[in-house]
Amino acid sequence: MKDSVTRRGFVRAAAAGSALLAGLRLRRAPSALAADADKPAALGGTPVHQGSWPKWPEWREAWEPKILEILRSGNWYRGSGGGSIAEFETGYAKLLGAKRCLGTASGTTALITALQAIGLDAGDEVIVSPYTFIATYNVILLHKALPVFADTDPETLTMDPATIESRITDRTRLILPVHIFGMPCDMDPIKAIAKKHGFGVVEDACQAWLAEYKGQKCGTLGDLGCFSFQNSKHIPSGEGGAVTSNSDELIDRCSAFHNCGRSVGTFKGSGCFTRGSNFRMQHYQAAMLVQQFDKLVKETEIRRQNADHLIAGLKDIPGIEPARLPENSRAVWHLFPMRYDATQFNGLSHDKFMRALRAEGIPCSSVYGEQYNDGLLDEAIASRGFKRLFPEKRLKEYREAFKDLKGNRQVCATTVGLSQNLLLANRGDIDHIIEAIRRIHAHSAKLV
Ligand SMILES: Cc1ncc(COP(=O)(O)O)c(C=O)c1O
Repeated sequence: MKDSVTRRGFVRAAAAGSALLAGLRLRRAPSALAADADKPAALGGTPVHQGSWPKWPEWREAWEPKILEILRSGNWYRGSGGGSIAEFETGYAKLLGAKRCLGTASGTTALITALQAIGLDAGDEVIVSPYTFIATYNVILLHKALPVFADTDPETLTMDPATIESRITDRTRLILPVHIFGMPCDMDPIKAIAKKHGFGVVEDACQAWLAEYKGQKCGTLGDLGCFSFQNSKHIPSGEGGAVTSNSDELIDRCSAFHNCGRSVGTFKGSGCFTRGSNFRMQHYQAAMLVQQFDKLVKETEIRRQNADHLIAGLKDIPGIEPARLPENSRAVWHLFPMRYDATQFNGLSHDKFMRALRAEGIPCSSVYGEQYNDGLLDEAIASRGFKRLFPEKRLKEYREAFKDLKGNRQVCATTVGLSQNLLLANRGDIDHIIEAIRRIHAHSAKLV
């Protein structure tokens, strides 16, 4: 501990200027040794972190009897009612403080279902966060609707509410904020705009299990919330998803749609069947999820404590800023994002910074790029269906507006993300992340 404090002290001095550093080297041999020991791994030094990071996902033998019971019963499919899926739905709704929950096959199918239930139709427009996993764009396109991007706030990395109203047209039907990395969007102004214009709000909470905004869990703030339980998620079942809501009517609509259109509860559709698909969860998936509820709660707390430690430790490194959360909210950190300012690192590029960090044994990535420039949307709006549904002028304006997403461009160019499993490591390992970044900062001139 004492050693590492001494070394960090030296690193701080080194960061203060190369002249001072040269002076220290000349006069004090031990510091020269420390400087050598502190050499970045990218320049041939020893990596700060040499061990492994917590493995993800994790299997527990204790889960096996329940899973085997389901597999041996032959009762695998939700059609038979009750069972683990009902147990999951009741338990997850309770965990979130939502009135209802519906299990689905994935987060993507949860979103498709929610958009159908709220009445999105071909030729509509949805105002959505551009900074997200590609599924959020795709589910809107699958409904033959247009994903219209609000800009990203570079401080929060989430939808900037101040950029929503200028995107509204007479085709806008709903707002789809994404609680990216488990960081809640600023929902009050988003909901106020939705209310003013009569729009629905569907939350993409696929990365935000147990995240909180002003005392309420994400996924319970809009009309419907959607979750993913894919392999990398904090509560994984390989694939899996859920829709949550405080409206019986909306969840009954979701339930009908996801079950081949079989009318259910308050929702009768136009008779026995309504439009629908098969997006059902399976019992063994539900049993895996139910058995992870307590683990999710405990690990969320660990990730939060380690994120707080990281934020405190990074505070005095210029050029590294954590994302700002809305007042009175709590993130769950599916990724821990850092906002990187190359000007504070002697112009060391975002890419080279990440390479240097990886060399120190700290896995990291830039996460999402400007995906709207990657061809998916060009292909969609050039399709027969979209050309029939939208005036040419609208599609042209729509495409041109991507260049105005300045906040999002900045976020894509400067974010450095650490994946959630790192936040389950012990304190010593979390300190390695801080130390590695200090080291890179101190030697940035040589790393450029
Ligand atoms: C923000 C976001 N939305 C939607 C999805 C889609 O979920 P799934 O992979 O379970 O279909 C994901 C999954 O990674 C996601 O992160």
